Amino acid sequence: MKEKKCPAAEYCGGCRYQGIEYQEQLKQKQEKLDQLLSSFCPVSKIIGMEDPYHYRNKVQMNYAYDERHNIISGYYVEGSHIIVPIDECQICDENINRILSSIQRIVSRLHISIFDERIMKGCLRHVLVRSTNRNEYMVVLVTGSPSIVKKDLLIREILKYNPEVKTIVQNINRKRTSMVLGEKNYPLYGKGYITDHLCGLDFRISPSSFYQVNRRQTQILYETAIEMAQFKGNEILIDAYCGTGTIGLSAASKVKKVLGVELNSSAVRDAKINQKINGIENAEFLCDDAGKYMEQLAKEKAHIDAVIMDPPRAGSDTRFLNSLVRLSPDRVVYVSCNPVTLKRDLNYLKKYYRIDRIQPVDMFPFTEHVETVVSMTRNWG
Ligand SMILES: C[S@@+](CC[C@H](N)C(=O)[O-])C[C@H]1O[C@@H](n2cnc3c(N)ncnc32)[C@H](O)[C@@H]1O
Repeated sequence: MKEKKCPAAEYCGGCRYQGIEYQEQLKQKQEKLDQLLSSFCPVSKIIGMEDPYHYRNKVQMNYAYDERHNIISGYYVEGSHIIVPIDECQICDENINRILSSIQRIVSRLHISIFDERIMKGCLRHVLVRSTNRNEYMVVLVTGSPSIVKKDLLIREILKYNPEVKTIVQNINRKRTSMVLGEKNYPLYGKGYITDHLCGLDFRISPSSFYQVNRRQTQILYETAIEMAQFKGNEILIDAYCGTGTIGLSAASKVKKVLGVELNSSAVRDAKINQKINGIENAEFLCDDAGKYMEQLAKEKAHIDAVIMDPPRAGSDTRFLNSLVRLSPDRVVYVSCNPVTLKRDLNYLKKYYRIDRIQPVDMFPFTEHVETVVSMTRNWG
């Protein structure tokens, strides 16, 4: 069966696997991973999605005027700031699509001023919507100016047409930058966060928190990583590159202690809140460079039984990998969103660790991206 093709596919560039049947997408990802990683150990069959559509729980729309001064919103054409108007994105949560279209109509009707990045003037730059599996939606209005003319009316209209919106936040971004969000968030309505339920726990999502975009597959990813770690119950576990603590907190009931380390201070703040709202006592979260933290532990000759590491696309660095080897935990589970840097890091680790299993999980249907979980055991021979 041929997958339905998105009308914006030609320009948008977000979904490289447009028009390719889903089973064929999985086959291509599997082949790519086999080529890159099978020299370490056979790559298990990729875990795909039953329904590969409408999985994204976070979507941002960029705003601009067209040549007739009409307000338009959409994604940027890859590598540019030209907007492709999008009515319905087939990988986004359907309610998010609907909320974004509704906001675009409201913004046009109220003539909210749009930010012009060439002259750095105007108000609305982007609208970000995030969702949880509790049917809670968060709207973030990213503005280039602190004030929003007709703010109260705008909020009232958004809530009137979109009752599932539980919170609206203003984020001010006055910089000339391709980053969507600025540093400051101001709740305009509701609590300023929404709460997702994953692996039996609650996780608070605020406008800037890192949270996996495909929650259905995230549950599978985390369960796979935790199962592959084969905990016995008495381990000291490091959750390295821990984000908001989701993996470590999901594993906490299976180990003695979790030590989470993460560079982004707001993610660490969220991890501590997540720990508290779930009543977890055997975890600690620290804001630091993961390599520096591991180096310090290695100097102290700390005893660590297991490490789950989930670095960004660039992979890990030598400082981290050297210290990991010095600390010599029995089990290492590497969660990777980039098989190329994963291969590089495994080439280093294979001298010290036996690579037991490589399990891909398709977190991003219709795109070329794929997540891979690798479990390793310390090789004392
Ligand atoms: C792929 S995310 C994983 C987050 C988390 N494990 C999850 O599943 O939500 C990678 C995380 O590494 C963090 N990070 C990037 N460089 C880092 C570093 N040098 N030390 C510690 N954390 C870092 C990022 O801020 C991000 O939260």
